[in-house]
Amino acid sequence: MSVAVVILAAGQGSRMKSEQPKVLHQVASAPLLHHAMRSGASLEPEKTVVVAGVGFEAVKAATLEFDEDAQVVLQKEQNGTGHAASMAEPVLNGFDGDIFILYGDTPFISAETLAEMQQVRRQGHAIVNLGFEAADPAGYGRLILADDGTLDAIVEHKDATEAQRAISLCNSGVYCVEGSLLFELLRKVGSDNAQGEYYITDIVKIARAQGLTTAVVRCEEYETRGVNSRAELAQAEAIFQRHARADAMDNGATLVDPETVWFAFDTYVGRDVLIEQNVVFGTDVTIESGARIRAFSHLEGCHVSQDCVIGPYARLRPGAEIADGARIGNFVEIKAAQIGEGAKINHLSYVGDSSVGDHANIGAGTITCNYDGVFKHRTEIGARAFIGSNTMLVAPVRVGDDALTGSGSVITEDVPDGALAIGRGKQANKPGLGLRLMQKLRQQKAAKSKES
Ligand code: UD1
Ligand code: MG
Repeated sequence: MSVAVVILAAGQGSRMKSEQPKVLHQVASAPLLHHAMRSGASLEPEKTVVVAGVGFEAVKAATLEFDEDAQVVLQKEQNGTGHAASMAEPVLNGFDGDIFILYGDTPFISAETLAEMQQVRRQGHAIVNLGFEAADPAGYGRLILADDGTLDAIVEHKDATEAQRAISLCNSGVYCVEGSLLFELLRKVGSDNAQGEYYITDIVKIARAQGLTTAVVRCEEYETRGVNSRAELAQAEAIFQRHARADAMDNGATLVDPETVWFAFDTYVGRDVLIEQNVVFGTDVTIESGARIRAFSHLEGCHVSQDCVIGPYARLRPGAEIADGARIGNFVEIKAAQIGEGAKINHLSYVGDSSVGDHANIGAGTITCNYDGVFKHRTEIGARAFIGSNTMLVAPVRVGDDALTGSGSVITEDVPDGALAIGRGKQANKPGLGLRLMQKLRQQKAAKSKES
């Protein structure tokens, strides 16, 4: 049976105190909205609808960036979650699969949890709600169970009696609803409640009154964690990182000091990778098995192959492709460059828009001068080439296989295979001149101090 996903993301998020819509704030280098969309995508939905309001254009752009087939609908005024969900009707009119409702500000709902909800729904329940045992239930809707353990109603905190408030089983806001019923149920929702809003939660009691059955699936509280403030954003980041570190270690990586390693949502770390202290991963990084990422390195958009050593203090930027066994050392920045097998760039260098051949050795302080102020140009360095320390490679330029450059050279012309290129002022020694110059300066200094 087919699935549609509706993501509610129209809320103000006023507690963020931000010019940016709440769902575009990031956890693990991705907007909250993308985390929610990734959860939804695990169901392989036929349709995905994002309900946007505040910051509509920005939310729409972020939605389409994740999934260009997703639909974005406008909820002009935020009249409650039930009203928000009903905005999806024009897109889902006549859809008779399962409709999942998720929140755009709730990033950690797992694929397993959604799959379980779907399975329970297909046992014949009209609505399956996702519930959790809240450590502190204040503010959440409470789940009122029937004697047989099915779901009888959801009561908002503000509308709940004292006895109901004592219930710790709470509503996460995630639902799986029989598609042919959802909008019919929503049309029956009123706004006669403490907040004067249209609550989606009311569809439960409306369904029960029609003789339909409704059920609850439970998950861990952290999965349902939503973000309403900067402090909660930081807490969500911490939750993400805790799990990412544990996953990396479960998959066979060593993290010397796990709490100082920061992953992005999509970091891939292979087996027997060793990650030292204070390493930060931006998006789109793959580290293959046996590589070692040394302390204080920053990596994004790069691929590190087997058995490489990166850092300490290395920076790999988008398009850095480091082949097996290569070494990138301290204060080295690599951008849009393919570094060959076993090549070494160990100290204080910038290599951008370049290719470096297998087993080449790039001396300390080498710079690929790739930018002329308007255009970027490529540098090609051959296999086994040896670039002397402090060489400036003025791109576009090619240094051949087995070629050498003298230290301090400014290389502006291609260097043939096997050649030695020296491009620097010729040294001249003036006998005794150093000593004489120094004596003269000391005399000047003595004369000045007498004057004053
Ligand atoms: C809602 C639930 C509550 C549950 C809690 C879990 C209702 C009535 N209550 O409460 O039972 O325990 O979530 O976090 O559903 N939104 C819109 N348009 C609106 C209103 C909300 O898009 O008009 C979106 C928000 O952007 C947010 C989500 O829906 O992503 C939830 O809205 P929020 O106001 O946070 O609901 P709660 O009062 O927290
Ligand atoms: Mg909320």
